[in-house]
Amino acid sequence: MIANATSKTTEHDNKQNGLVVVEMEHLKKSFGNNRVLRDINLVLHKGENLVVLGKSGTGKSVLIKCIVGLVDFDEGELVILGRNISEVEDKELIEIRKKIGFLFQSSALYDSMTVRENLEFSLRRQLRSISKEGLSSLIKEALHNVGLATAIEMMPSELSGGMRKRLGLARSLILKPEIMLYDEPTTGLDPITSKEISNLILDVQKMYNTSSIIITHDIECARRTANRIIVIKDGICAAEGSYIDLANSADAWIRSFFE
Ligand SMILES: Nc1ncnc2c1ncn2[C@@H]1O[C@H](COP(=O)(O)OP(=O)(O)O)[C@@H](O)[C@H]1O
Ligand SMILES: [Mg+2]
Repeated sequence: MIANATSKTTEHDNKQNGLVVVEMEHLKKSFGNNRVLRDINLVLHKGENLVVLGKSGTGKSVLIKCIVGLVDFDEGELVILGRNISEVEDKELIEIRKKIGFLFQSSALYDSMTVRENLEFSLRRQLRSISKEGLSSLIKEALHNVGLATAIEMMPSELSGGMRKRLGLARSLILKPEIMLYDEPTTGLDPITSKEISNLILDVQKMYNTSSIIITHDIECARRTANRIIVIKDGICAAEGSYIDLANSADAWIRSFFE
């Protein structure tokens, strides 16, 4: 029994493990003379949490904005869910991008609307074909999944920083993303709330089977959430490995992130 359970993975497992949902090859992006992304090569595997570390201003946000299409890259290849996005028609591009959720550093809320009304209002346009009752139950389910069920009738002014993050995440999850992009999800939060948000990122990975890129310079968030870490330096991926690998890197500069 035990021998069977620990024997070689099946072909099916190998395919599952090897499935790539985002791939960047020789991606480049400059703003004028500022060469931000010089030659980025990365893959995001199905179901994994990939953490991106790097000093402030190294292009981490630009990198994920290229994936969602908020920034147009100059050169290179970007393949999302098996489609080379330079080769697809606009209509298909919209469909691909619908499968990507994005947790911004700050989530914009309407101060005069409750949590429920904010979600209804902002999702109505994207979920036109859903009935009022259908949307209402999706909202309840998502708020429950992010630990915000009791806040449904609260006003934004009553929400803490952590609750706002949870709300932003609930909003993304209602659209059932295959890929989640988190930009500094714990920045500005106290250590306990940061820990809760990191754990929530893990819960989302399990509950929704998402593949995620998590940008952070919170090393504790990286330790908790990462299946794999890459470090961006001078516009390239300077290092890649597990938390343990990189924390014990021979390169003192890489190790300095973990001290
Ligand atoms: N829309 C833009 N126009 C001009 N420069 C930009 C723009 N967005 C980002 N940059 C520049 O790109 C560099 C990387 O920015 P960013 O990706 O935000 O860094 P970070 O790693 O801190 O997320 C910075 O020098 C920033 O000034
Ligand atoms: Mg940034």
